[in-house]
Amino acid sequence: MKLLQNKRALVTGAARGIGLAIAKKMAVEGADVILNDLQGESLDAAVKKLKEDGLAAQGLHADITDEPSVKRMFKALEAGGGLHILVNNAGTSIRGVRAQRTGLTDHLIRKIAEIETEDWLGVLSLNLTGTFLCTRAAVPLLIASGSGRIINISSKAGRAGSDVSDIAYVTSKAGLIGFTKQCAKELGPRQVTCNAIAPGMTLSEWFKAHWESLDEAKRSQILSNVPLNRPAEPEEMANACAFLASDQASYITGVTLDINGGWYFA
Ligand SMILES: NC(=O)c1ccc[n+]([C@@H]2O[C@H](COP(=O)([O-])OP(=O)(O)OC[C@H]3O[C@@H](n4cnc5c(N)ncnc54)[C@H](O)[C@@H]3O)[C@@H](O)[C@H]2O)c1
Repeated sequence: MKLLQNKRALVTGAARGIGLAIAKKMAVEGADVILNDLQGESLDAAVKKLKEDGLAAQGLHADITDEPSVKRMFKALEAGGGLHILVNNAGTSIRGVRAQRTGLTDHLIRKIAEIETEDWLGVLSLNLTGTFLCTRAAVPLLIASGSGRIINISSKAGRAGSDVSDIAYVTSKAGLIGFTKQCAKELGPRQVTCNAIAPGMTLSEWFKAHWESLDEAKRSQILSNVPLNRPAEPEEMANACAFLASDQASYITGVTLDINGGWYFA
C-alpha cells in the first residue's frame, strides 16, 4: 500500500516550485491531490501535467488572502469528499510582493529602512493570514477525517534570520513556527497533527534564477556555511512533507523540521 493511499490533500501555492513538488510527491504516494494557486494559467498547466503522468490531481483557483475565496474553496473541498491533509505552502517575500505590485522583478534584498508598509503587510497577509484562513477553514474537515495533518512551510530564515531575504519574510516565517506549535496544542486532542518544515535554499524556479545571477565567489561564500555544500531540490522538501502527512508520523506534532543541508540546527 502506498504511503498516502485513500488520503485527500490540499497544497496551497502549488502551481510551481516547492508546492508543485509536494503535490506531485503526495499524488505519487497515492493521495488525491488538490492544487491551489492564485495564478490560474500556471495552475491549469501544472494539473494537466500531473494528470498526463497518470496522477490524481485537480486544481482550485483561489487567492488565499481573500476570505470569501477561501470559504468558496473549502466549500468545494467539503462537497468533493473532505480533507485529510493541508499543506500551507504559498508564501512570499518583499521581493515577491513588489514584483506583483509593480510587475518588476529584481533580486535586491531590502533592509528595514527601505521597506514600504504596503509591502510589509503584503508579506504578512500571505504568509500568516493566508495560512490562518486556510487552516481555520480546514479544521472541521481535518477533524472529521479522524487523522488530520497540517504542514506549514516555514523557512531556515524563520529559525535563524537570513542573509538572502528580508525582515518581513523572516518575521512571518518565525510566526509560522509559533502558529504550528499552537495548532498542535489545540488540535492534538482532536487527532489532528500540525508540523512545519523549515527549508534552506531550495531551487524552485525563482530561487534558481536568483542563485544563477550570483557570481561564483558569492555562491561559494554562501555555501561555505552549508555543510552539504549545495542548495536543495524541491523534491527534498516534498519527501519530508509526504512522511509528515502519512500515518507513519502519527505521534509527531508541534515540530519544525530543519531541512537545510546543515546550515542551521538547534
Ligand atoms: N525556495 C526557497 O529557497 C525557500 C526556502 C525556504 C522556504 N521557502 C518557502 O517555500 C514556499 C514555496 O516557495 P517557492 O520557492 O516554491 O515559491 P514560489 O514563489 O515559486 O511559489 C509560490 C506559489 O504561491 C502562489 N501564490 C502566491 N500568492 C498566492 C495567493 N494569494 N493565493 C494562492 N497562491 C498564491 C504563487 O502563484 C506561486 O505559484 C514558500 O512559503 C517559501 O517561503 C522557500
